[in-house]
Amino acid sequence: MPADLRPVHIPVMPREVLQWLQLSPGLTVLDGTVGAGGHSSLILKALGPAGRLIGVDRDPMMLNFAAAKLSGVNCLLSRGSYLEAAEILRSNGLEKVDRVLLDLGLSSDQLADRDRGFGFDAGGPLDMRFHPHEGRSAAQFLQQSTQAELQEVLETWGEEPAARRIAAEVHRRLQTGGAVETTADLQSCVAAVCGDLRSSSGRTALTRVFQALRIRVNEELEHADRMLTQVLPQILNTDGIAVVISFHSLEDRIVKNAFKGNHGWQVLTKTPIEAQPAEVRLNPRSRSAKLRAARWQPQP
Ligand SMILES: C[S@@+](CC[C@H](N)C(=O)[O-])C[C@H]1O[C@@H](n2cnc3c(N)ncnc32)[C@H](O)[C@@H]1O
Repeated sequence: MPADLRPVHIPVMPREVLQWLQLSPGLTVLDGTVGAGGHSSLILKALGPAGRLIGVDRDPMMLNFAAAKLSGVNCLLSRGSYLEAAEILRSNGLEKVDRVLLDLGLSSDQLADRDRGFGFDAGGPLDMRFHPHEGRSAAQFLQQSTQAELQEVLETWGEEPAARRIAAEVHRRLQTGGAVETTADLQSCVAAVCGDLRSSSGRTALTRVFQALRIRVNEELEHADRMLTQVLPQILNTDGIAVVISFHSLEDRIVKNAFKGNHGWQVLTKTPIEAQPAEVRLNPRSRSAKLRAARWQPQP
């Protein structure tokens, strides 16, 4: 990490996360999306020296940020998907944990990094992978997918009304020798269909298109669903608590359905918890956050 690169991400709903995790000294906690370590540093304080935190992130850059912020013999950091949590715990001599935090989606640090292509304002190559060498970049996905596939991605994960026309424009460019390799290239495809990108409708369209591609490239919703339905029941101790923060309705639906769909969960949050207006003023990213918590109590 360059010395002048400082994380800018502000953890969302920090007070609520601590409250719903119901932490006490000595517990073992998995932060499956450790990011720059904002939530984890608060969790570590609440756990005291007898507690233990395992922090996981798919992105090596974010794990570097976390390593710079978090320290102590009771803090273990590992690069990988939270889907690999059972193996990561085993390789650290652990089997189960008492608490799990998942703060889904991407960090403001990833969004701001010009080399990653997550943010339409940041510029740079159209990559969008959480791990820079895993799987296909967004540009490769655009090149290799059919127009119908792209339209489906924009409809399903972006809920973009102009999905058909934007997919057609991307394919027209690719087939006429044009490139869609940078965030600016993709912006100009959206502009050709939606008009002025400085207008609020133009920015909304860009947000939806970039979100849809990022979700597809990283298979984010599949990961979240498998984590909640398959991995958490394996790695949570009885009476353990999972707290999950999501940032859009598709993600929140997955969390809600996973907690409802297994009788082992006792849902603690009847309706999702949202950030207080004072937090939204300070951290606009918290506006769309929804927090759900559930206790794992499998029937014997
Ligand atoms: C919203 S940020 C987390 C911020 C963190 N809570 C903090 O306070 O700094 C989401 C993080 O999850 C990571 N991530 C996304 N999908 C993941 C996955 N399947 N496994 C592990 N980490 C993932 C991203 O790389 C990103 O760093």
